[in-house]
Amino acid sequence: MLTQRPAWKALQSHYAAVRSLHLRDLFANDPARGTRLTAQAAGLFLDFSKNRITDETLQLLVQLAEESGLRARIEAMFTGERINVTENRAVLHTALRARANSVVTVDGHNIVPGVHEVLDKMAAFCDKVRAGQWLGHTGKPIKNIVNIGIGGSDLGPVMAYEALKHYSARNLTFRFVSNIDGTDFTEAVIDLDPSETLCIVSSKTFTTIETMTNALSARNWLNAPESAVAKHFVAVSTNAAEVSKFGIDTANMFGFWDWVGGRYSMDSAIGLSTMLAIGPDNFRAMLSGFHEMDEHYRTAPFEQNLPAIMGLLGIWYCNFFGAATVAVLPYEQYLKRFPAYLQQLTMESNGKYITIDGEKVNYDTGVVYWGEPGTNGQHSFYQMIHQGTRLIPCDFLAFGQSLNPLGRHHDILIANVLAQAEALAFGKPDSPEPHRVFEGNRPSNMLFAEKLDPAMLGKLVALYEHAVFTQGILWNIDSFDQWGVELGKVLANRMIPELESPEEPELNHDSSTNNLIRRYRAARRYA
Ligand code: F6P
Repeated sequence: MLTQRPAWKALQSHYAAVRSLHLRDLFANDPARGTRLTAQAAGLFLDFSKNRITDETLQLLVQLAEESGLRARIEAMFTGERINVTENRAVLHTALRARANSVVTVDGHNIVPGVHEVLDKMAAFCDKVRAGQWLGHTGKPIKNIVNIGIGGSDLGPVMAYEALKHYSARNLTFRFVSNIDGTDFTEAVIDLDPSETLCIVSSKTFTTIETMTNALSARNWLNAPESAVAKHFVAVSTNAAEVSKFGIDTANMFGFWDWVGGRYSMDSAIGLSTMLAIGPDNFRAMLSGFHEMDEHYRTAPFEQNLPAIMGLLGIWYCNFFGAATVAVLPYEQYLKRFPAYLQQLTMESNGKYITIDGEKVNYDTGVVYWGEPGTNGQHSFYQMIHQGTRLIPCDFLAFGQSLNPLGRHHDILIANVLAQAEALAFGKPDSPEPHRVFEGNRPSNMLFAEKLDPAMLGKLVALYEHAVFTQGILWNIDSFDQWGVELGKVLANRMIPELESPEEPELNHDSSTNNLIRRYRAARRYA
């Protein structure tokens, strides 16, 4: 049990001593702090000196990781052990970016060649579409790509498309449909010509109600004979049977495997829209970035290991300071969907109260991830980060170069991110008016890289993937299942006929739900 570990107990008494230390004093007493408490890997620099830690904190957190067997669990993940215990699956998103000549076995079978076969098939398809050689049923080249998917089959593709827009083919239009709300599909295609549009139906299971309903609406929107479907629909899935049942030729299906979790799949065939946007070479560069961070995580000592450090600091704030959230604040407009992407990655992975041994935890797990790009957030919620009553650790992300240099914009942007971290840490204690006092001592990480490119995006995503893994191992939970989403799905499916039935249904829910169903039925206006 985590709370029985010697390092945990040591951290508890250590916390009592450290909680009252102020970053102002920690920096004043240690001029080298700002350069010592840093780490870098693969061109990504992490300054974690503005955290409420001492060298001893880091050492105890690393000890906790070691006592929790983190090193062995990392190897277990990378070598294909079935560490997703509730689904009895291996967890091998790292194999998606393994070098072609490496060997990763599942049930005695090397899975790496299959990964590269799919990548090659994706590349051939993308080259054809990007060259204007993939024609719709009326003979027109494809100009628009609509990705239909939800959760991991949407958030990664949208985030990557936005993040790498600078590198994308601007003659192609990309849209993403995820929500079951008909407005999402309607607005996504409102100005598109179906005869110039390719729909990618992205679903690991190919049974997700939102995706299948949107795919059917897209099929109707195409308004063309059955023979046209093959030219306008491709599928990304692990479920060939359901793909052909839908009417998509499995020759136009890009596969992946049950050892890729939905929220860990943006670098699998689920990234088809990304590859269409940025081209196969850039996609491969992104995979190399992922791989570099994988290798760093697998080999670097925890004291210098970026994902381990970030994961451990997360534990420090969650379990000792009682922080309930982390703000992710990219000072890079192209990363505007990065916080939303991280919400599924972190919260679907680590929002769990049952350990892998089936017991209820007696400590907190998982925190709320949220954020907006800087500087927008500064004019909105930063007030609370600076002067609120809650501790909100922040991850700032900044880059040395703008992809769109424009006058003084980038210097002003970077001055803001550095100033925010400085203000949060050191505050302004000496104002005569209490409302102008900034207590400071508010922790942050600063992630800094030269510029955002496909490889760097891969590194950043892998960094958070492995930080999440680090925490999941210490918390002793299964970071790769998502049973918490099931109950709502079952109840909604049961309720659909009650909403749609022409006759008044017999309702056996609680009185609130019954009442709301009756209200909805009375308000329902469409056929
Ligand atoms: O609702 C949870 C979930 O299973 C996610 O984990 C997943 O990313 C999403 O649904 C979509 O699933 P699929 O790709 O099978 O449509």
